[in-house]
This record gives sequence, C-alpha cells and structure tokens, in this order.
Amino acid sequence: MASGSWEEFFAVHLPPTDFEDNRSLLKEFCERHDQYGNKIVLVTSGGTTVPLEHNTVRFVDNFSAGTRGAASAEYFLEHGYAVIFMHRQKSLEPFTRNFTGQKLFDMLDLQDRGPNTTITVKQDSVFVLAPVLQRYQAAHAAGALLHVAFTSVSEYFWLLRAACELLARTGPRALLYLAAAVSDFYVPKDRVPTHKMQSASGPPVIQLHLVPKMLAPLVNLWVPEAYVVSFKLETDENLLIPKARAALEKYKHKMVVANMLQTRHQRVILVTPDANQEIVLSREEVHAGIDIEGVIVSDIVRAHGAHMGCGAPPSCARSPR
Ligand code: PMT
Repeated sequence: MASGSWEEFFAVHLPPTDFEDNRSLLKEFCERHDQYGNKIVLVTSGGTTVPLEHNTVRFVDNFSAGTRGAASAEYFLEHGYAVIFMHRQKSLEPFTRNFTGQKLFDMLDLQDRGPNTTITVKQDSVFVLAPVLQRYQAAHAAGALLHVAFTSVSEYFWLLRAACELLARTGPRALLYLAAAVSDFYVPKDRVPTHKMQSASGPPVIQLHLVPKMLAPLVNLWVPEAYVVSFKLETDENLLIPKARAALEKYKHKMVVANMLQTRHQRVILVTPDANQEIVLSREEVHAGIDIEGVIVSDIVRAHGAHMGCGAPPSCARSPR
C-alpha cells in the first residue's frame, strides 16, 4: 500500500487534546534557552502505538522501553545542552531509569515508630543514589530538562513538528537525536472503528498502511539548519549499513546511528557521509554498567560542535543555563 504524503497525514489526524499545552511548554523552553545562546537537543525516546479503535483498548506497539533515549538525555545534560525529552508515556525517563522496578525500595530502610516513623537510605546505597540525585536536582534547578509525552504515532508527529518549528530559530545550535522507535505502519483514521472490536463479530481483518517518512520535511522544511541524527534499527546485519547509508543519501541529514536489535546496547555504528565509526563496549565495560550512550553522545557532541563552527562544543554557549 503506497504511503500518503506527510501533509495528508497531518490533515487527516487532528492534534492531540493536550497539544496546545505542550506547544506552550516547548515554546517557553526554546525561547528561554535560545536567548542565552544555549545548545538545545531534542531527544525522542520509546515506541509509538498504532490504535486499532478510536476508544482505544487495543493497539499495535513495539519493543522499545526508551533505554537509549533516557540514558542519552542524561549525557546531553552533562555536556551542557538544554534537553527536550520527548518520550512515550510511561517509558523510561532520565535519572529515574536507574532505579526501575524494586531497586529503589531495596535501597531504603524503614524504622517503624508509629507517628515518628522514618525512612532512610541504606548506607551502601547512598553512594549509588546521591550522584544521580545530584545530577537530577542540578538539571531541574537550571530548568535544563523538559519532558513532553506521546503515545500514538500521530501524537508523536504533532509534537515532533511543533518542536522542530520552534527549534528552527535556534539555527545550527539545535540538535535532533531521533532515537524513538516510530511505527512505519498504521491504520488510517477512517478505517478505525469507534468502539472496542467485538470477538462475536469474528476475527478482524486489519490492513496496515505505510506511515509517511517524516525525515524528509523535517530536514528540508521544519528545521533546516539543525544537526539531525536519525537511527536505523535492523535485525539482519546485511541490511544495516546499506540502509543507514541509503537514508543519509535520501534525506541528506548529518548522521545515522545504526544498531541491531540484539546487540543495541553494546554496539552501534555512527554512519556519516565520510565514514562508518563503530563503537563497541567490551564485556568488562558491559558488566561494569557502562552506558554505550555516554560514548555515542560524546561523539555526536563533537560533531555538532564542528557543525556549529567551533571545535570545543561545551564552550559554544555564550551564557550558562
Ligand atoms: O529503547 P531501546 O530499547 O533502548 O532501543 C533503542 C532503539 C533500538 C529504539 C534505538 O536505538 C533506535 O534504533 N531507534 C530508531 C528505530 C527506528 O524507528 O528505526 P527505523 O529504521 O524504523 O526508522 C529510521 C528513522 O526514520 C528513525 O530515526 C525515525 O525517527 C524515522 N522515521 C521513522 C518512521 C517514520 N514514519 N518517519 C520517520 O521519519
């Protein structure tokens, strides 16, 4: 099934109900950081859903938990960027990603003394929690991190376009880091039933259509001066580099981070027009809990610095956040 145009997609899919609120938050954030000449990165993270009913009970989803995006946002903050963290609702978030599941409760001690009950952090956990808490508080005190959330693929695109249009004013100081796992297939709005599909009606036949690729208008129209990094995920190694390179040639952006589903947290390849640069963590580094995102982000920050015309990126900002 041929893909419709991106204009048609926006014409058919209305903005989400909280769109104007999110747009105002984005506007305030971009204007505030732009006024100080700060670098701003838009990090997209997590997977998009494709609703199968308007009153959505069921939807098509994908595997992404947002590990890459949440970790990367932290490293961009360390490099002095203001970070727009555009993430799938309830996916991993910067800082709290380090304490998912029961991890946080396992770090706490309860002294049950009735009305004088206290909760303390276990001594051996203080050294784990304190540095993360410090970085979290510093980011929030500086107003350097904005969260905006999406669920469906159309919510994602509305937010993406709004953020890009606002970042256009930031010129080459804007960086786009498109790590979200965006659906390539969807059910057009007029083919989606209003109410929950009934099993009594028999097995549904669901035809998925192609979602238009938004990289084309994003690079050419919405945010033409930004440093744009897209991601390419494959499960067949033979396709990985050819498809990453084909994307670069087609959309003419700056870099594709190529990764395989099975090894994505130990190995990536940064594909630019001139080179393929492989980043691989050793087994020891993986066991020591080193994030590959720290290395990816450092390399991208360096490339972004060169794009802005100044070799040492963190000093590019004219004023502290
Ligand atoms: O969350 P984790 O478990 O840590 O996993 C991280 C990750 C594997 C999700 C991440 O590293 C990654 O590869 N993200 C991109 C996955 C993806 O959508 O790849 P793709 O080949 O389908 O799309 C390529 C690019 O096209 C993406 O940057 C996407 O933003 C863009 N795209 C996709 C669909 C669409 N309709 N329009 C687009 O512009």
